[in-house]
Amino acid sequence: MTRIGILIGSTRPGRKGDQVARWVHERATQRGDAEFEVIDLLDHPLPHLDEPLPALTGQYRHGHTRAWADTIARFDGFVMVTPEYNASIPGVLKNAIDHLYAEWTHKAVGFVSYGVRGGARAARQLRELCELLRMGAVTPQVSLSLHTDFEDQATLKPGAHHVGALDALLDRVVARSTEGRTATPAPRETDETAIRRHMDGIIDAIQAKDLEVLRRLYSADVVSFDIDPPLQHVGIDAKLKNWAKVFAFFQDVTYEVRDLMPTVGEDVAFAHGFGRLSGTLPDGTAAGGMWVRATFCFRKIDGEWLITHDQVSVPLDILGGKGVVDLEP
Ligand SMILES: Cc1cc2nc3c(=O)[nH]c(=O)nc-3n(C[C@H](O)[C@H](O)[C@H](O)COP(=O)(O)O)c2cc1C
Repeated sequence: MTRIGILIGSTRPGRKGDQVARWVHERATQRGDAEFEVIDLLDHPLPHLDEPLPALTGQYRHGHTRAWADTIARFDGFVMVTPEYNASIPGVLKNAIDHLYAEWTHKAVGFVSYGVRGGARAARQLRELCELLRMGAVTPQVSLSLHTDFEDQATLKPGAHHVGALDALLDRVVARSTEGRTATPAPRETDETAIRRHMDGIIDAIQAKDLEVLRRLYSADVVSFDIDPPLQHVGIDAKLKNWAKVFAFFQDVTYEVRDLMPTVGEDVAFAHGFGRLSGTLPDGTAAGGMWVRATFCFRKIDGEWLITHDQVSVPLDILGGKGVVDLEP
């Protein structure tokens, strides 16, 4: 049966979020067309986002993130219950959302907000955020006012008209979630896309000068035929030493890759293209860099593509015995 999670977006002592979620849950369980469960962030304490890689990569290092991912993955759709804090959603809710990606994507979501004026700004921002995550945000929405829907601004007594709005919201969330469950699953990312995403990861890590992220993008036994001597750089530490030299040379570094052409086999792939490092030197001088030919060779190890070999070169002016460094792709 379709499973809908009712997510409480606040955690502070004395919060009203649990009352609102309970009201949604009580109404929802009268329907019988889906199973409804309250998800309380108090039961899933998460630190400030501490994953080294963006959730988009699906690579979660920490047990708490994997446990949270398992929880969210169980649901086909969501009702998010959010108050308005300083014209936005609570940080704890944003943090919980930011921890994951694929577990949210393509799932239906509806919003129940509350605040002085119904929490409209929080709901609007949450809708934008969920749409960015490619969730299917439904149009019907419930907005509860602290003045008129809470007795003494403390105890939830929602106006009768909110029940109709909640029913409409649940109708749409259940329908879309059920469609999503029975639809053909979205095709898995192709290996070519994974290779291109891997190269985007290399570019991001170089520009962030992040050696730890780079370490995870190469195999431990990578053999690099880099542009500078010696003939080969063997092993991840030697490869990272080269990147560390680049990071010391540039204050700010930009890495561009053009015309990347991946060719992908079952568990071996290669991609060739042109690369250029440029940036600003520590004294502020701009360094334009040169275009090089670059080939990246991958092996799929434990289901993940890693660079096991790379080759970087410039053409040789054979008569002059010098590398040609002023060519443009
Ligand atoms: C830090 C903070 C900021 C708030 N900012 C707003 C606001 O910008 N607009 C609003 O309508 N209500 C605001 N409120 C009032 C909350 O919407 C109201 O207290 C609500 O009950 C909070 O949800 P909770 O009880 O589940 O934590 C704020 C409350 C807090 C604690």
